[in-house]
Amino acid sequence: MDDDTVSNESKATTLSQLMALRLSRRDALRGMAAAGVYGLVGCATPATQGSGSSLTFTESGRFMDETHHVAPGYKVNTLIRWGDPLHADAPAFNPQAQSAAAQERQFGANNDYVAFMPLPRGSANSTRGLLCVNHEYTLAPLMWPGYAPESYAKNLTREQCETEMAATGHSIVEVENRGGQWLVNRASPYNRRISTRGTVIRVAGPAAGHPRMSTKADVSGTRVIGTLANCAGGTTPWGTVLTAEENIHYSFTGDASTGREAAAWKRMGIDGRARSLWGRHFDRFNLNKEPNEANRFGWIVEIDPYDPRSLPVKRTALGRCNQECANTVISYDGRIAVYKGDDRRMEYVYKFVTRDACNTDQPEANRDLLDSGTLYVARFETSKMQWLPLVFGQGPLTKANGFENQGDVVIDSRRAADLLGATPMDRPEDVEVNPATGRVYVALTFNENRKPDQIDAANPRGPNKHGHIIEIIPPMINGKSDHAATECKWEFFIVVGDPKNPEHGARYHGPVSPTGWITAPDNLTFDPKGRIWIATDGQEDWSGFADSLYAAETSGPHRGVTRCFFSSPRGSEVTGPAFTPDGKTLFLSVQHPGDEKGSTFDKPSTRWPDFKPDMPPRPAVVAITKADGGEIGS
Ligand code: FEO
Ligand code: CA
Ligand code: CA
Ligand code: CA
Repeated sequence: MDDDTVSNESKATTLSQLMALRLSRRDALRGMAAAGVYGLVGCATPATQGSGSSLTFTESGRFMDETHHVAPGYKVNTLIRWGDPLHADAPAFNPQAQSAAAQERQFGANNDYVAFMPLPRGSANSTRGLLCVNHEYTLAPLMWPGYAPESYAKNLTREQCETEMAATGHSIVEVENRGGQWLVNRASPYNRRISTRGTVIRVAGPAAGHPRMSTKADVSGTRVIGTLANCAGGTTPWGTVLTAEENIHYSFTGDASTGREAAAWKRMGIDGRARSLWGRHFDRFNLNKEPNEANRFGWIVEIDPYDPRSLPVKRTALGRCNQECANTVISYDGRIAVYKGDDRRMEYVYKFVTRDACNTDQPEANRDLLDSGTLYVARFETSKMQWLPLVFGQGPLTKANGFENQGDVVIDSRRAADLLGATPMDRPEDVEVNPATGRVYVALTFNENRKPDQIDAANPRGPNKHGHIIEIIPPMINGKSDHAATECKWEFFIVVGDPKNPEHGARYHGPVSPTGWITAPDNLTFDPKGRIWIATDGQEDWSGFADSLYAAETSGPHRGVTRCFFSSPRGSEVTGPAFTPDGKTLFLSVQHPGDEKGSTFDKPSTRWPDFKPDMPPRPAVVAITKADGGEIGS
């Protein structure tokens, strides 16, 4: 989900930033032309697609129609849809009579991030596991029968708000592959909903108990009801799932121009003009009635899917922003790095490095590992980049600049990053580590608001209508990547768009096919062979095709040559790609099918995936397998 505003007004005010910008513009152009970064550029004909590549599938093609399309020889099974019961005794989905109580026991709306957590815990089982799925938000036009903008805004009931809140958050559901068919186990004791409406979540780290986290309902500032705007995420080596609270500003109404938090709200893009109208019935979503509630969202939340009784935990040491993701990796010395993007135009890329090493023998020993460590923000220079520490008392992060403690630094991590001179990026989405190489891939989805005089080494187009992917290369120590390093190299992996259109300025390493070029990269994942899979969000706005999933090799002669594997139904976004450990199943989230102008519950632009006249389009997770049982992509 996206809005097109910018809340970073830091305007590169320091002299060093100005100098870096002047230098980097020139160097960016020089770097773009340099030999080696980009080799062949152009389009291949379909006959030569994949020739010599390990990705041997025939491309799916790209479409703008009512259903999905996948590469020939692959099967797509709809595994679980919005409203499907999560328990044997949960009510069936009735779109004409939705309720909060029913929704709390059903799969939520607008599924996004997907993690496959094998069962039993710690195994690499690829046929049975827990599907952990984010539910980012609800869309009133496609949720409510009889929807019309005016009547919705006028007549919205408390129960409707509660149903929307119940449909948002996260689901954990056991799935099993029986004879080649993935099925949901509704009797599983692991099945669980975590919602915005009712789930108690503990707060840990520097902001726990901070006065700015205290509310009437929770004076202690340590217990929050719910998580919201759950976009992408990540998993940890100890078997937990991290869910990222992204566009929290859509949930708070009121007058954002006044009060002691007004400046902080502004920097977080919280302007009181929420898409949801929950603040009408629930004071905590009204900025003026409960000004600290917004500080309790925008965090990374850790969930233990293997313990259904566990409280999720907001890990505030990782900072607060429009969190896209939280992907972890074990550094050479056993410490954990968590990579994150702040998805808004002109926002930053972050990483958190734990103080202590991960105990790979005892998962429970890592229970609070994410509470102690150092949060860093990225500054990109020409071919190298710095990770700048966001530590209270260091540099400008002092009382003179309004920070009383580390709690303030993490609550206002955007402002702290501004003061350190971080590089404003073209909407950082997923930041994912290639398990085969340790290189870190940053998806910059697009930024049409970047002006020509705002380009820099790492954001070379203004406007940037298509996006790009940066590859960060940490130094190696004893053959392993040092993810705690404060200086790394970087280069462009791909600068996307149509290579046949000179106005796009796209650059790939080799020839992409007419259906293989990308726009708007968002979620990333890697298959067991270290090949990158790239899901798009917004492709239809910029190229006229529905969002799609692409794959590319990351090294060798086919490095960065993207190929289209799956095309989503119209109005939808394809998100959350996740492989089973054996690479033979790919789970995909199809989010907001039919989300187009004028498309409503009663007259949607598609009724995917049921195609029944009494069913609205339903977001769903699909399981993709190869008909011959082989590895995806092969
Ligand atoms: Fe929810 Fe940044 O995508
Ligand atoms: Ca996303
Ligand atoms: Ca990912
Ligand atoms: Ca997105």
